[in-house]
Amino acid sequence: MTKQERLRALHEKWFSKCTCALKKTATQPVPGDGSAHAQIVFIGEAPGKSEDMQGRPFVGAAGKFLTEMLESINLKRDDVYITNIVKYRPPNNRNPEPSEKEACRAWLTEELNVIQPKVIVFLGRHAMNTFFPGEQISKVHGKLLVKKFPYIETTYFLPLYHPAAALYDGSMRETLKKDFKKITHILKKIQ
Ligand code: URA
Repeated sequence: MTKQERLRALHEKWFSKCTCALKKTATQPVPGDGSAHAQIVFIGEAPGKSEDMQGRPFVGAAGKFLTEMLESINLKRDDVYITNIVKYRPPNNRNPEPSEKEACRAWLTEELNVIQPKVIVFLGRHAMNTFFPGEQISKVHGKLLVKKFPYIETTYFLPLYHPAAALYDGSMRETLKKDFKKITHILKKIQ
């Protein structure tokens, strides 16, 4: 099986296996999307309304901003892999509960183990705190974190502000755009 086929098979498996309580209220699951050979995986929080309707991550306003930032470093969405901690939309876009994050956790780990990216980029505190519970996004955004976890190969992690939070806050938006540009340098450094 190719990596792309392995990804498709694991999503199919988790569509029925995932025990996330949000399944009851969401329209459909929103699995990760993009290249199975990506060097960079972006991890967001949870699908919003547009994602819930289309079944694809980051296709609403925050997704448009993410696509613009990717283009600013000469990358297309198809060059990277984009996924979320939680694969089902929380009602009214509330924060995901710890039990919901936990229910979708093994699904995420399996995605990461197929792709084995060079760097994992956290979009916002929910994604970052799943791996680094003690860190604060306001302190570590744009800083490369290096850690070996027992369950994934990737050791480089870059926390960024969430594009949705930055959309309506001018100074956060500029910080995010500046932090985002560090991805190119980081990829060169860790080749
Ligand atoms: N915000 C997220 O965290 N994920 C999406 O897929 C869309 C918006």
